[in-house]
Amino acid sequence: MDYFEYRSGELFAEGVPIRRIAREVGTPAYVYSLATLRRHFRVFDQAFAQLSHLVCFSMKANSNLAVLRAFVKEGGGFDIVSAGELFRALKAGAEPKKIVFSGVGKKKQEIEYALSAGILMFNVESEQELALLNEIARGAGKKAPISLRVNPDVDPKTHPYISTGMKKNKFGIDVQRSLEVYKRALSFSHLEVVGVDCHIGSQLTTIPPFVDALSRVKVFVEALRKEGACIRYLDLGGGLGIRYKDEEPPHPEEYAGALIQGLEGLDVTLILEPGRVIVGNAGILVTEVLYLKETDEKKFVVVDGGMNDLIRPALYGSYQGIRPVVERKGEMIVADVVGPICESGDFFAKDRQIPRPQPGDLLAVMSAGAYGFTMSSNYNSHPKAAEVLVDGENFDVVRARENLEDLIKGEVIPPALQ
Ligand code: LLP
Repeated sequence: MDYFEYRSGELFAEGVPIRRIAREVGTPAYVYSLATLRRHFRVFDQAFAQLSHLVCFSMKANSNLAVLRAFVKEGGGFDIVSAGELFRALKAGAEPKKIVFSGVGKKKQEIEYALSAGILMFNVESEQELALLNEIARGAGKKAPISLRVNPDVDPKTHPYISTGMKKNKFGIDVQRSLEVYKRALSFSHLEVVGVDCHIGSQLTTIPPFVDALSRVKVFVEALRKEGACIRYLDLGGGLGIRYKDEEPPHPEEYAGALIQGLEGLDVTLILEPGRVIVGNAGILVTEVLYLKETDEKKFVVVDGGMNDLIRPALYGSYQGIRPVVERKGEMIVADVVGPICESGDFFAKDRQIPRPQPGDLLAVMSAGAYGFTMSSNYNSHPKAAEVLVDGENFDVVRARENLEDLIKGEVIPPALQ
């Protein structure tokens, strides 16, 4: 459930008409609902209430400081994948002891930064990373808390670009070799093996792959304890899907129920790294119709937001709902909703039935709260969109729209060219 609803034919975010936001902030603009963010976090968190657990929001899905702060206030932690994300999490007031660091390509400086911040654990993805981490920890006179990201080789049955737990994926350590690598980890003087980790993919809409992965990785908890390691955490990553169109993903309670059952008798703190399920349907992208182009073959609704703002349809061919901000009665047309970018892949929707729009109309691209702004770019030198957080009857601009000067920040014309 979210808080984007029509009232007398007009789309609202909570108590605020989207039209008002567009008038005051301009377009394109991301609009997030605080009540929805909180609700989704709480529903997810409470689903695991009977277990010792920690929800580490996967901030690659949405890393706006205000959004992160909302989760800090809910007691949440964060799953980070870069120094930049660590910086943001700390700026938002995150407790370092609630941060886990995933990712196949952690650089030396990033590891040093996370080690000095005192994060909860490093989810290590290769043997070389293990050795580097040990070296860095030795240099710092510390013991680095680690888990290994085990690649359990299960098919999450999602888009190939966002499937991560199969043998052919670059992520994690082959389940067959994991015990051996774990034993190596135990031999390092400056590492402390504290957990087991996996993440199999994103936008999963069924439970069995999660349960499968759990059964394949939980054996390591016992095996490592036998080796004398004090295993405290089992991190099952994120991946629970949402409804974009007609998907019927399991409710967090159903998901939690299945995991809780699979964990029976295992004395660990469960870590979860949800991203999309918390923020996906808590945000929309508001864009303005610039032109309606009609040819014999096709109709194109040209809007002011593009793949630079929201790349998911272009990158994955994914479906995003499109709704008129002010409902229009009358003729329906079938059109592609496209952006201003000079690429044929720049579309939000293909052959979509929508009420015939007029230039100046506002459209809402739905389910844009996850992997929307965080994947946006300045391609074609478009300043990045504004981000707005609605709270009841009020809203705040939580990231100002970029301006033209922002576009050239750090660029220099060398003396020889002056
Ligand atoms: N943990 C790890 C280690 C991850 O790699 C990811 C996502 C998550 C947690 C969070 O997964 P979620 O709960 O959001 O499914 N850009 C793509 C999604 C990429 C997901 C990458 N990893 C998209 O727009 O669909």
